Amino acid sequence: MFSRQLLRSISLRNSIPSTRNAVSQYARPSIQLGRTQFYSTFKAEEQPRIRIGSEAPNFTAETTEGKIDFHEYIGNEWIVLFSHPADFTPVCTTELGAFARLAPEFNKRDVKLIGLSTEGVESHKAWIKDIEDVTSGGAKFSYPIIADADRKVAFLYDMCSESDFQNIGKGMVPTVRSVFIIDPAKKVRLIMTYPASTGRNSSEVLRVIDALQLADKKGIATPIDWSVGEDVIIPPTVSNEDAKAKFGDFKTLKPYLRTTKSS
Ligand code: BEZ
Repeated sequence: MFSRQLLRSISLRNSIPSTRNAVSQYARPSIQLGRTQFYSTFKAEEQPRIRIGSEAPNFTAETTEGKIDFHEYIGNEWIVLFSHPADFTPVCTTELGAFARLAPEFNKRDVKLIGLSTEGVESHKAWIKDIEDVTSGGAKFSYPIIADADRKVAFLYDMCSESDFQNIGKGMVPTVRSVFIIDPAKKVRLIMTYPASTGRNSSEVLRVIDALQLADKKGIATPIDWSVGEDVIIPPTVSNEDAKAKFGDFKTLKPYLRTTKSS
């Protein structure tokens, strides 16, 4: 179970920028906390650089719903992969509950949720009971949580702060709150990263899924604070003539800022 000492260490590490720049080259056991050993077996220079449009790195992992091959798990659907600092922590408990409540909305959009936390399957399963007790609003927990005790996935997806990244190979590396939205072609389409101290906004994750899917379907872009049903933007790469043929009526606020109905 999550210790106060660990929580303190995560909060401090995430708020104090590191001035160290050397990163250990080789794997070694780093810290022993309670019964869990934390191994940092990664070379910082081998971390993939993930950008919008990158192929989502594949991995195999144990989850609360069995072992997965991530690319097989993606299948033909969209994925929201989101990480948490640790099990049995208050902010994470509210986040996982909120995603459990919204799971049917994600599923309607052909989106599968998958969480990640850096403890084992048994710990995750015990935590899920708490989440169903207090934050899921009566919803049954319906998506898997990756058991990333060795931080393999966290490393692949760079789910840590700068100061913790500098600690790779030397000590325990906690995860931050990363969100990766991945499309059925396995391409990373959107990345959000929050510090441990700040809970995410589950409605925003749903909103950007709607924006991405509409952009793919209609070839439009979405303005600031857009939500479903509101007008959308015609990209500047589309000529007025093509815009007329494709979208029918549109408004020209400036030659480069044209809007049209979203449906
Ligand atoms: C939390 O989920 O509540 C949390 C986790 C790590 C640091 C601070 C807060």
